[in-house]
Amino acid sequence: MKILYLEDNPFDADLTQIELKKHGNGMEMTHVSTIRDALDLLKKQVTNPFDIILTDMNLSDGSGLTLLAEVRNLGIPSAVVVVTGQGDEETAVAALKAGADDYIIKQKDYIKSLPQTLESAIARFKKVKNRFTRPIKVLYAEHNAVDIELTLRHIKTHAPHIQMDIVKDANEMRAALRTATTGTEYDVLLIDFHLPGEDILGLVKEIIADKHFEYPVVLITGQGNEETAVNVLKLGVVDYLVKTNGYLYRLPAILENAHNLLSLFHEKEALAVSEAQFRLLAENARDIIIRLIFRPTFCFDYLSPSVESITGFSSEDIYANPDIFYEAIKEKIPSVNNFIHLLTLTSSPELVFPFTTKDGHRLIMELRGKVTKNDKGQPEKLEGIIRDISERIEIENKLENRMHRLNALHTIDTAINSSFDLRFTYQVLIEQVLTLTKASAACVIFFDPELNDKRLITCLGFSTPEVDLKSYLFKDPLSDRTFTDRRIITSKPEEILDQNYPLHRLIKREGFNSYCAVPLVVKGYVRGVLEIFSKEVLEMDLEISNFLETLAQQAAIALESSQNFERLQKTNQELLQAYDDTLAGWVNFLDLRDEMTEGHTMRVLETTLKICKGFGFSSQELMHINRGVLLHDIGKVGIPDNILNKPGPLTDDEWVIMKKHPEYAYQMLFPIAYLRPSLDIPYCHHEKWDGSGYPRGLKGEEIPLSARIFAIVDVYDALTSDRPYRKAWKKDATIKYIRENSGSHFDPGILEKCLTLLTSSE
Ligand code: C2E
Ligand code: SIN
Ligand code: SIN
Ligand code: FE
Repeated sequence: MKILYLEDNPFDADLTQIELKKHGNGMEMTHVSTIRDALDLLKKQVTNPFDIILTDMNLSDGSGLTLLAEVRNLGIPSAVVVVTGQGDEETAVAALKAGADDYIIKQKDYIKSLPQTLESAIARFKKVKNRFTRPIKVLYAEHNAVDIELTLRHIKTHAPHIQMDIVKDANEMRAALRTATTGTEYDVLLIDFHLPGEDILGLVKEIIADKHFEYPVVLITGQGNEETAVNVLKLGVVDYLVKTNGYLYRLPAILENAHNLLSLFHEKEALAVSEAQFRLLAENARDIIIRLIFRPTFCFDYLSPSVESITGFSSEDIYANPDIFYEAIKEKIPSVNNFIHLLTLTSSPELVFPFTTKDGHRLIMELRGKVTKNDKGQPEKLEGIIRDISERIEIENKLENRMHRLNALHTIDTAINSSFDLRFTYQVLIEQVLTLTKASAACVIFFDPELNDKRLITCLGFSTPEVDLKSYLFKDPLSDRTFTDRRIITSKPEEILDQNYPLHRLIKREGFNSYCAVPLVVKGYVRGVLEIFSKEVLEMDLEISNFLETLAQQAAIALESSQNFERLQKTNQELLQAYDDTLAGWVNFLDLRDEMTEGHTMRVLETTLKICKGFGFSSQELMHINRGVLLHDIGKVGIPDNILNKPGPLTDDEWVIMKKHPEYAYQMLFPIAYLRPSLDIPYCHHEKWDGSGYPRGLKGEEIPLSARIFAIVDVYDALTSDRPYRKAWKKDATIKYIRENSGSHFDPGILEKCLTLLTSSE
């Protein structure tokens, strides 16, 4: 096997070369670091080409896709496999579409599977050699310079197998079309709907009507023009594209489809050539050329010799005994009448059906043809081709599976990023696992090495109730093996059914037939296991096990981020505790300093909480209120001793300073995120209902309810306590005073309820 290896990371290059050497058997590797060197070498080696080109995606002088496009353009008969980094599957898919034979994701142990990947890529390439030899040529009529620039750049990096020429208006386009000669004609026309100076509908009609061109047309419109776009489809435009977010990502596929339609058209045209040419074509074709006669009796009139190499049956066999043919297709087409019916549904029928070959292989065939009718409009004959499309279907399915897997990863990714609830994340994960592996049940178990403890995080698909599952799942040497082996473990029925461990009893009980365990590794330690159970035998091919490994990586990321989150929450709790401890210290200090208010804070706390509970505050709000009350006069730390403890009334200047204490509280507490929700009381407890309070002069319900309640409690407690400037008031006098100030100082709507609650325990 001659390999050209394109990698600019010397470390990766060495590793790969060492690994491939181990495999010996004629692996002959040439290593280069740049696209330029690779192309020089490829052009020199025309007579003795490389079997395969293995290229990294990101190279110092360009993208692996560029090399791929060059290789295909030059018709170099080498398979191409691209190597991408993890998380770059989209580029990998783009590479497949651009004609790569396979891709490899750089992840753990990817080098080990390299020889196998290379061999199958070469086999695949040999089978489909002719498929991607020619680039798709597109003529793009667009006047918007930004769109042109963006499109060209996008196509260059993501779909280099598409060659794009630009024209800026309708006349340039006509000129370009006219000068395109055989071999340089375009495959697809892409036309912007807002091309200046022309009625685009007229232009499109003209192009489609001109049999000389035969170009498929794709129309591109701005947003809001979708309706027009749909209308032009009726003119025969093949497809349209709206310039929405990400439309450039859809563009290559749309152009490819349009091109394929044209190829199909050309193939159909080939059917219309003269009898002689038809024969000639037929003898040499890889496809089976077929002519069926409908009347007087339905029969095979002609089958090209290729039928034998494809199906094992010779044309003579089938002429002599058509039942061979009907037998081979009966899986989907049960009878001859059925076959005739399908063939005559339209004038150009297209059928896809399974075909069982002489040696029992199942192929997928596609029959496309043209029905000729007699004067009475009855079908007379069908001329067409039958093509073995098994390979294509397989590739399409593979691609589709890959897309499904990619989507699964994205779904899981989203769950990880949007939820710290681990159980939810893992539920999404195992749902995806079950869908993709077609297994019956799965569960995720975590292992806490500190506690030497296992935890069932989530499970799906078991008939055994979740509470009972643990006893089967937790003490099991089979799943424990993932902890020591650190790799995917699969087991076949013999292995899992003969033993007497709890897990095996579960497997018998549930009717499972195979088992697979995938370790969840976080920072090098196995922290959990994903266990998959299936009633069918699990097909663990390389691709599925790679996929499961990727899944497990995602799962481990989820585990890690949730552990970080738990740690963060723990830290938060510790922090909160620290704050609360600090608060208690502050309160003590305040009460000590403001001698005469000793015990005031604790008394008002108790009363305020009691009243607030009566007003239906939630426990969360009560927690904030609790802290707010503790801190209500924290601002007084900013008031000098001589003012705070003055035995007589305050002067005007002193009042200015005293009234600053709520503002001080705000300035002190606001920067502390955890105390911010507790600010209402410290900041607003001296506001008055009629707007005459301080610091902001808030009025009525502008004052937070908790602060309105607290104001009543605070004044009640202040007046019934001794102060340096006066003796304690009697309770009755205090209540009378508070009632007198209803509507001016206090909220009249809550006052009576507060007084009732306040005095209820006294
Ligand atoms: P504080 O002693 O905790 O009083 C809280 C609130 O209870 C006062 O807010 C006021 O609304 C009410 N209050 C307390 N004592 C009396 C009183 O004798 N008569 C009346 N009618 N209401 C009373 P205010 O007025 O905004 O005062 C805030 C803080 O300013 C007081 O907290 C106290 O530390 C200080 N303060 C108020 N008046 C004086 C004073 O005459 N001399 C001194 N040295 N400090 C005072
Ligand atoms: C990966 O390969 O690990 C990530 C793929 C993705 O979610 O995009
Ligand atoms: C508080 O944070 O003090 C309670 C919430 C409120 O009164 O709006
Ligand atoms: Fe105060």
